[in-house]
Amino acid sequence: MYPMIKIEGVRHAYETAAGPLPVLDGLELALEEGGFVAVVGPSGCGKSTLTKLLSGLLKPDEGKVMLHGEVVAKPRSTVGMAFQNPVLLEWRSILQNVMLPLEIVPNTLSKTERQDRARHLLELVGLNGFEDKRPSELSGGMRQRASLCRALVHKPEVLILDEPFGALDAFTREDLWQTMHRVKENEPFTGVLITHDLREAIFLADQVVVLSGRPAHTQYVLDVPDTGPRDLEHLYTPEAAEMLAVLRHQIEVAQGRAPAKEVAR
Ligand SMILES: Nc1ncnc2c1ncn2[C@@H]1O[C@H](COP(=O)(O)OP(=O)(O)OP(=O)(O)O)[C@@H](O)[C@H]1O
Ligand SMILES: [Mg+2]
Repeated sequence: MYPMIKIEGVRHAYETAAGPLPVLDGLELALEEGGFVAVVGPSGCGKSTLTKLLSGLLKPDEGKVMLHGEVVAKPRSTVGMAFQNPVLLEWRSILQNVMLPLEIVPNTLSKTERQDRARHLLELVGLNGFEDKRPSELSGGMRQRASLCRALVHKPEVLILDEPFGALDAFTREDLWQTMHRVKENEPFTGVLITHDLREAIFLADQVVVLSGRPAHTQYVLDVPDTGPRDLEHLYTPEAAEMLAVLRHQIEVAQGRAPAKEVAR
């Protein structure tokens, strides 16, 4: 049985006017089907580049990016993505925005089935009653919920979230974290979450990967136990505090602000 996601020895550099810019060098990642990994690391270290490699928008210079044991060689429809700024089309209703991937990705669903699927997801994230609104009529948090539904509507095997909650206020963000858990219980997917928020990482993920500074390699992997913070209150337990301290230290190492030798696991 292959892991759902396997990244091996990935190196990647961008060609720039000033010469090649090495961004990833020694990236490793393995995630079983149904797993949820959070990727954290200093700004500009290559996290969004990793999402482009996973979705097939970029090919690595060296190493392998594999989904289900198959090398990712071109963009795949089995991947769903959501970003910090939900790009929703203003001339379409929320329901029509969520249905968009079903118009692009080949499928055998009838129009009614597509609508039912989109409505089901909107209900799951608490947006029932807003199906006919335009994106500008929704709050930032609601737009992000709609964007999540759109990323999931075609039942992708892999859901990639690149700082989806980064622009939201703290309370809205925490609401969305809880929504994410509800979605995860109801919709099977393997998740990759890019975030700068360590609490978000241990709340949502079962594995946290810390990337080093650029060019980034996999510096540290933290397994969040099954009994980890799955309830907001659990973020304040001693176990959660310890995980956060370890991760914070790793980020300082990645930023070059702390020596690596203190690493504890
Ligand atoms: N298409 C491109 N051409 C050239 N350089 C690029 C390109 N895309 C990204 N870069 C550079 O590669 C580096 C990594 O970018 P990336 O967007 O992957 O970082 P990131 O970890 O997602 O950063 P942030 O945390 O700020 O979102 C940055 O220095 C960026 O300027
Ligand atoms: Mg980024």
